[in-house]
Amino acid sequence: MATPAQESGHDPMPVADMPMVGPAQIPCLGFGTVRLHGSECHDAVTHALDLGYRSIDTAQRYGNEADVGAAITASQVPRGDVFLTTKLDFPNYTLDRLELATRESLSRLGTDHVDLLLIHWPNPRVPLEETLTAMASVREKGLTRHIGVSNFTAEQVRTADETAPIAVNQIEYHPYLGQEVLLKTHRDLGIATTAYCPLARGVVLDDPVLADIAATHGKSVAQVALRWLVQQEGVGTVVRSSSSRHREANISIFDFTLDADEMGRIAALARGLRIIDPEFSPDWDPEQVDDL
Ligand SMILES: NC(=O)c1ccc[n+]([C@@H]2O[C@H](COP(=O)([O-])OP(=O)(O)OC[C@H]3O[C@@H](n4cnc5c(N)ncnc54)[C@H](OP(=O)(O)O)[C@@H]3O)[C@@H](O)[C@H]2O)c1
Repeated sequence: MATPAQESGHDPMPVADMPMVGPAQIPCLGFGTVRLHGSECHDAVTHALDLGYRSIDTAQRYGNEADVGAAITASQVPRGDVFLTTKLDFPNYTLDRLELATRESLSRLGTDHVDLLLIHWPNPRVPLEETLTAMASVREKGLTRHIGVSNFTAEQVRTADETAPIAVNQIEYHPYLGQEVLLKTHRDLGIATTAYCPLARGVVLDDPVLADIAATHGKSVAQVALRWLVQQEGVGTVVRSSSSRHREANISIFDFTLDADEMGRIAALARGLRIIDPEFSPDWDPEQVDDL
C-alpha cells in the first residue's frame, strides 16, 4: 500500500541513507516540535515519519509529549527505528524528582525508553553532579539510551562530561550565530552538536548570500541553511515546520553538496544573533575561537 508521502509524489528518504552523528548515532536531520500541540503536532509528526525523518525532538516544557508519543505509536515506523529525544524541565533536575519525572515523560510518550534525555538548560541552583548522577542511573535502568545537555557553555560541557559521559549538547546554531568555540569543545570531547533554530525561526530566509548559493543549486534558502549544518563534522540539526510543503523540502537536502567556498561564505554570515536568550541563560561563549 502506498504511504501518503508516496501518494504525494515524494519518495521517503531510505532510512539507511541518513547520515548519523556522534556517539549516540543521531540521524543528522530531525524534526523539532516546540509550539506544536494537539492534532497539529500529531499530524506533523506522523507526516515527518512518513517522509523519512527518524529523529523527533520534544521536551517536558513543550507540553506535547503525549501528542508526539501518540503519533509515533500510531505510525507504521517501528519504535526502534525512531530516535526520540526529550528534555527535563527545571523542577526535575533533583535526585528526588528526576527518575519519577522521566517515568512520567515515558508514560506520556507511550514508550518504555527514550533514546536521548537532555538537561534542557543549565541550572546553577541544582548541583550538576546531582542531576547527572541521577541521569546516569536512569540510563542504567534502561529508561534512556543516552544522556546529554542543552544550552551548556563550553566550560559547563567539559564539567558535565567529566561527571558522566554525555553524548550531545543541543544549542542554538544557524548561519547568523557562530558557534566555533562550542564546536571545537564538542569535537575535542567526541560529543555531537545538535543545532536548534537552524533557520533562526525564519530570520535567515531573506539572506542574499544564502539566496545566491541556493539559486546555484536550484534549492531554497532553507535547504541551503540546513545543508550547511549537516555537512559539518559532528553536527546534526532539528527543524520544525507546521507546513507539509516545508517538511518535505527540509528533508530534501541529501541530493546536493556545498563546496568549501560556499561553506565558508555561509560561516562568514555569523553576527551573534540569538533567537533564544531567556534571562536564565548562562554567559554564552564567544562566536569565534579568536574572541576568547
Ligand atoms: N534545546 C532548546 O532549548 C531548544 C530551543 C529552541 C528550539 N529547540 C528545538 O529545535 C527545533 C527547531 O527550532 P525552532 O522550531 O525554534 O526554529 P526553526 O526550526 O529554525 O524555525 C521554525 C520556523 O521556520 C519555518 N520554516 C521551516 N521550514 C521552512 C521552509 N522550508 N521554508 C520556510 N520556512 C520554514 C517554520 O514555519 P512553518 O511552520 O510555516 O513551516 C517555523 O516558523 C524546535 O522545534 C525544538 O524541537 C530546542
